[in-house]
Amino acid sequence: MPFRKNTPKPVQTPVKKPETEEGDEDESKKSSKGAPELLRGFRDIMPEEQGRWNFVRDAMRSLAESYTFDRIDLPILERSDLFLRTLGKGTDVVEKEMYVFTDPSNRSVALRPEATASAARAYIEHGMIERPQPVKLWYEGPMFRHDRPQAGRFRQFYQVGFEVFGSSEPIIDAQLILIGKKIFETLGLDVSVQINSIGTPECRQAYLAELVSYFRQFRSRLPEDDKRRLQKNPLRLLDSKEPETIELLKDAPQILDWLDEKSKEHFMKVLEFLDEVEMPYVLNSHLVRGLDYYTHTVFEFTLADDEGEKAQNALGGGGRYDGLVELIGGRPTPACGFALGIDRIVRALSDKNIDPPQYKKAHVFFAQLGDAARRVGLKLFEEFRKSGIIVSEAVGKNALKAQLEVANKLGVQFTLILGQKEVLDGTIIIRDMESGAQETIDVKKIVSVVERKLQKDPGVKTEGYSPVADS
Ligand code: HAM
Repeated sequence: MPFRKNTPKPVQTPVKKPETEEGDEDESKKSSKGAPELLRGFRDIMPEEQGRWNFVRDAMRSLAESYTFDRIDLPILERSDLFLRTLGKGTDVVEKEMYVFTDPSNRSVALRPEATASAARAYIEHGMIERPQPVKLWYEGPMFRHDRPQAGRFRQFYQVGFEVFGSSEPIIDAQLILIGKKIFETLGLDVSVQINSIGTPECRQAYLAELVSYFRQFRSRLPEDDKRRLQKNPLRLLDSKEPETIELLKDAPQILDWLDEKSKEHFMKVLEFLDEVEMPYVLNSHLVRGLDYYTHTVFEFTLADDEGEKAQNALGGGGRYDGLVELIGGRPTPACGFALGIDRIVRALSDKNIDPPQYKKAHVFFAQLGDAARRVGLKLFEEFRKSGIIVSEAVGKNALKAQLEVANKLGVQFTLILGQKEVLDGTIIIRDMESGAQETIDVKKIVSVVERKLQKDPGVKTEGYSPVADS
């Protein structure tokens, strides 16, 4: 069922030109002649940071597979209409954070600000409703929001997401929350789960009328941003960070009191399942999330010991979105999911000094003297690689002293030295870096000799070596 055929005419929601931030103005004034610089809110993830990034991505991939989620890769660029219609007109993402532009075919396109809408589009477009339900998908990749850059908030950031289509069972909500919690446990992060229900669009409508009439009485006390919310997206008043609004919220009507029987029952069952597996959670009646497609359960993961400003930076969040697939032209399909922010998770690991090694560590260093040795070295490298032994080298350096210095820095156990004489003799020298002892070995036997020597040391694994397992 192709997405386009079934969808009504694109909604031409005007996207306001994003407000220019202070730093952005400076950026536009910068001379185009200077050295090229990063755009604000964008960054390079440097080689020395890759250890943590790999650690997080590997853990996510392995958990996704063990919970039988199928990987899907979704495009970074989509028709802007997809997001405008699903995320909500009054939301911050649609109002001011979308990167929208016209492509060379004169189509309005957007860099994806999130991927749930894309996953729903793919579910429809590939007729996944015909597959055994539920369909469980996971993805990872960059998202783009022209948000105000600050700690833990970037304009290009990375998410890993888990989406389950085709089941309205509350156990799915509970299981997704459990998977999220397990991911954080695997990474060594203690998170708190905030949970709430926002019911169906119908009961939310009735609640919103009540909420608006409550806040209207105090309109003059509301800060400007919240006055705007009161008019455009009153539900967002519930997670306002403004002290005056927070004070007023104490006596505001609670959404849980406005849930219909079915919504209440759904939510109770989710909580019962969580109790069953003894998973702690915090009922947070002010949790509404920033996107309009949610129904029933919503949840967020925050660092358990987080306080103050950082507490606003959830490490992940999600919920049920039973109306989304139908909204974009599919058959009614209940669904639920969540996404985790890798940038914030990596930062949390760094704050807690959780520091997995950056690369697989080299076991052996190869020092060569002259071109003939380099040629033999090329072949030897392949043989070592096949046996799972990681060999490092410094091809740019010719002097043996300089090469041994690099070997020392890398902390390898053995250095192999191949000079012209050894090439002619068909031998190679192996040097134990700790004792300095050297042996001359038949070059044909060197791989098995190194293998044996490494296996003698229980601290060194050559098979299935993984930076995660060794950290
Ligand atoms: P979201 O709450 O907008 O939900 O984003 C999920 C996570 O992405 C956040 O909790 C945060 O860790 C990270 N994140 C969001 N914006 C930024 C930013 N500017 N810089 C750094 N990290 C950020 C969604 O995107 C939904 N699609 C989640 C979902 C999946 N709901 C159902 N299925």
